[in-house]
Order: sequence, then C-alpha cells, then structure tokens
Amino acid sequence: MQEKINKLIKDINKVVLETDEDVKIFQEKYLSKKGIIGDVFRQFKTMPNSEKKELGSLLNQLKKIATGKIEHVAQAQNNTPDKELFDLTMPASYNKIGSLHPLSKVQNKIVSIFQKVGFLMSEGPEIEDDWHNFTALNMPKHHPARDMQDTFFISINPDTLLRTHTSSVQIRYMEKTKPPIRIISPGRVYRKEDISMRSHCLFHQIEGLYIDENVNFADLKKMIMYFVENLFGKDVKIRFRPSFFPFTEPSAEIDIYWGLKTEADHRITKGTGWLEIMGCGMIDPNVLNNVNIDSNKFSGFAFGLGIERIAMLLYQVNDLRLFFENDLRFLKQFQTTK
Ligand code: DAH
Repeated sequence: MQEKINKLIKDINKVVLETDEDVKIFQEKYLSKKGIIGDVFRQFKTMPNSEKKELGSLLNQLKKIATGKIEHVAQAQNNTPDKELFDLTMPASYNKIGSLHPLSKVQNKIVSIFQKVGFLMSEGPEIEDDWHNFTALNMPKHHPARDMQDTFFISINPDTLLRTHTSSVQIRYMEKTKPPIRIISPGRVYRKEDISMRSHCLFHQIEGLYIDENVNFADLKKMIMYFVENLFGKDVKIRFRPSFFPFTEPSAEIDIYWGLKTEADHRITKGTGWLEIMGCGMIDPNVLNNVNIDSNKFSGFAFGLGIERIAMLLYQVNDLRLFFENDLRFLKQFQTTK
C-alpha cells in the first residue's frame, strides 16, 4: 500500500496540466468519486488500525498534492491578463506634478530679498503665550490695542493663544540673542476676523527686526525702499503713512498703489487706490527693556507685512479667500510662474 501511494505521488508530480481539458481528465482520473485516490481511500478504510496510523498522513499528502495541482492552474489562469483588454498602443499617463502654493512662492521671494542683505531666518510657535504676543510688546493686559487683535484663546489655559502676529518672534529672539540682530520671521497668524475678500481669520505674515547701535528712521526707510523695489520693480509707487503700534515709536504704515480702474479695485482699496502692505517703526525702548537690551545703547526698527496682500498685488488676485480654498483650477495657474 505504501509503495502504491508513493508511486502515485511521483506520477502526479510529473503530470503537466495546460488546457482546461487536461484539468478535466486529471480530475476525473484521480479526484472523482470513482477515481484512483478515492479507491485508495476505500482500501485504507478496510485496513487494520495499526497500519492506518502510518499510512494516514501519506495518504493525506497524496490528496493535497493532487488538489494543489488543479488550484495552481486556476491561479495561473487568473493572473494572465486577457490581452484583448489592453490597448498597448495607448500613450502612457504620467503622474501629475504639483507645484508650490502661490503664498509659499511669495514668501520665499520676500525671505530671499532680505537674506541677501544679511537677515537670518528665525521662526516661532503658532501657539503663543500672552507675554510674547502682547505684554512684552508693550501691550499689557487691558491695553486698547489688544482689541484690534482679538484672537482664539486656548480654553484650558487663558494665557495661551493662537498668535495674532509674527511680532512675537522678535521677543523670543531678543530674549536669547544680544545685538546686533537682523532677523526675518515668516509664519501663520490668526485673528478673530470676519472672512471677506480682504481679510481672513488665518493669514501669513513676515516680521523683520534690525537692532544695532545708532539705527535710525532713515535706515528703516532705506531698507523698505530696497525691499519694495526688489519685489515690485523700480517704478513702484509707495507712501509712508504715520500710524500707531504700541511696540514702535514712531510708527508708520506703508501703502502701495494698486490702481482704481475696475469696480474690484474700488472694493479692494476702499476707493482710495492704495493698499496697505505693512506696518513698521522704531522699536519702542520699553520693548528693549522688557528683553534686557540696553535701550540707551541700542536702537532698531521692525516691520511686519502680510503675505496675502503682497501675493494679491503681484498676481493681481482680487479675492484673498482664493488662497485658502485650494481649488486646483486656481492653483494650477501658478505652476509656471516663478
Ligand atoms: N504686528 C503688526 C500687525 O500685525 C505689524 C507690525 C507693525 C509689525 C509694526 C512690526 C511693526 O514689527 O514695527 O499688525
């Protein structure tokens, strides 16, 4: 009996099944009710128990090999593609390549303009504390200027908030580093603002800070002119407008001439033709004292600009919300522009 089974295993291993017909014949010969393997099983049943033990596993092996042979063919058939389903002459489709978001492009451009004149990049956290976002910037608790920068507070700790401006990075940097200081700090900021074509509760700023001995307002003006001419070209029309920020004295805002040709121009510029792009000023001595920098020895200027505003100007986009919707029809238009 053992010999018989071993021979059957050998025979079955040699069989090559190619067509459906081969499979059918094989199945009938070995695996059908009246097939060879069925016969062997029937014989096995009549054997004394002592012999059954040894032969049982060999017999199971035989059956496994026979059924395995058929399964193997079925699997191979499933994996073979039906040639007619494929058009091998069709052009291949390529992966679509993404591109930088317009706001990233503008940010990179601005940062590189300042890096060329020695500004270092320094970033800070978006979740800030009251000290760095307000108090150290000469805006103590209940200061009316806080009203313009209402934001989102983290309810478990009322001292923690989403930063309202990148000016907080100034404080973090000055706490760690002594002058001379020249940094540029891009990042995301938050405010409790209504969403419109001109404003959003989330936007991006770039903060600049320059501190050394004998820095004055003329240095600030020169730096701003260098920046806008590099970004918008020599013909750019800008104006300095006196303003107020608690952390600078004197302070100014800078407007750029957008134009007043279309109805959208009127809405964007509130009928003036001018669009504000940044705030700036000479650092208030209180701020320097707050971070233990000697305000008798050192002075400096700071500025903060909105990246969305600049992107709107550069790309003539008349609704700021488009930058956040991530509509591919909008984003694709920036694939080739630098
Ligand atoms: N932090 C101001 C804002 O978000 C912008 C600003 C104004 C930054 C004047 C400055 C500055 O550094 O000197 O409105």
